[in-house]
Amino acid sequence: MPIDHQAQDQTPTVSVSGTGPVLVTGAAGFIGMHVCTALLERGFDVVGLDNLNTYYDPSLKSARLKRLAWYRKFSFYKLDISDQLEVLKCFEYERPSLCVHLAAQAGVRHSIKDPFSYRDSNLSGHLAILEACRQVETVEHLVYASSSSVYGERPMESKGFSEADPVSEPASFYAATKRACELMSTSYSNLYGMRQTGLRFFSVYGPWGRPDMAYYIFADRARLGLPIDVYNGGEMQRDFTYIDDVVEGILGVCAHPADPGENRILNIGGDEPVPLMEMIACMEENLGVILEKNFLPKQAGDVLTTHADISRIRNMCGYVPRTRLEEGISRFAEWYRSYYAFQSAAQISLVSENGS
Ligand SMILES: NC(=O)c1ccc[n+]([C@@H]2O[C@H](COP(=O)([O-])OP(=O)(O)OC[C@H]3O[C@@H](n4cnc5c(N)ncnc54)[C@H](O)[C@@H]3O)[C@@H](O)[C@H]2O)c1
Repeated sequence: MPIDHQAQDQTPTVSVSGTGPVLVTGAAGFIGMHVCTALLERGFDVVGLDNLNTYYDPSLKSARLKRLAWYRKFSFYKLDISDQLEVLKCFEYERPSLCVHLAAQAGVRHSIKDPFSYRDSNLSGHLAILEACRQVETVEHLVYASSSSVYGERPMESKGFSEADPVSEPASFYAATKRACELMSTSYSNLYGMRQTGLRFFSVYGPWGRPDMAYYIFADRARLGLPIDVYNGGEMQRDFTYIDDVVEGILGVCAHPADPGENRILNIGGDEPVPLMEMIACMEENLGVILEKNFLPKQAGDVLTTHADISRIRNMCGYVPRTRLEEGISRFAEWYRSYYAFQSAAQISLVSENGS
């Protein structure tokens, strides 16, 4: 008999009618860890996959995994999603009912330096997940990460990027791979009737965040007493989305699956573009420092502005971003201070144990 997994206390209720676990790729990543935690808190069995690569400090990934290991219902595979056979074996063994696919080589700027890692993780990896979902027919719905970067360069005054807008001018190779994932998914929905949802995330931030993103770099520079680089003279804005809102949106989408044969594309944003200099001021206030700024020209691959039109996801599952930037940055700063205080305390005790 199909098990109906229900939320224990929080909304929204995620229901998965199959008996299998939820499989989350990129589980040791920023968004992946938060999604796994929310699912585990709601009583789901969760299988996490990640290759724990060294794109950024792998000790942060290990620390995230340690938190997930507290849960009895969490299991983990260290696995590269571009390894098609290993991915298939894992799906065949676990027989998941739902797949939340977040593993990818992220980062706009890095894609100019190392495009082949994007080919492997984003193109081959996405295809391996599609094939595993097709062959192991237990997966009822594939929810995967896309990106606001697919919208490309828009004038500063542009408002409300809509899913119906043209997206054929990627400004970076990262954006091109994310758009390619959406198209690969559409072909699999057309060919095999798969239910899929692609989520275009807009600058997700918060505790346990990604160290290559601007807000995290600014915090690092403040901790080390170093100046920050501010590109395009600070003339940029971003639609920042707090991690808890993103998780609620993902769970909401899981609770309202796409139709058979549909690859539904949805924006998930904060609905309020914030000028970069305002974000920096907010960081300074929360970290209690004034950062020295190196004003530099715009970097290749960067876009001037992002702003999500979120009406489609709101109508689909009632998604409403609730966390304003001031509150979200304050929670990030609080986490950052305690995480790095703990790390340096651990280092100090290690040094004294070694007698040096
Ligand atoms: N954070 C954002 O603002 C943002 C914005 C747009 C899109 N996204 C997308 O959301 C997803 C999650 O992003 P995140 O911010 O949590 O990034 P993240 O880098 O923290 O997480 C991604 C995880 O995937 C893993 N991974 C990468 N390649 C892999 C591979 N070949 N096999 C197995 N694991 C692999 C990494 O080790 C990492 O732990 C990504 O697909 C990213 O492109 C994120």
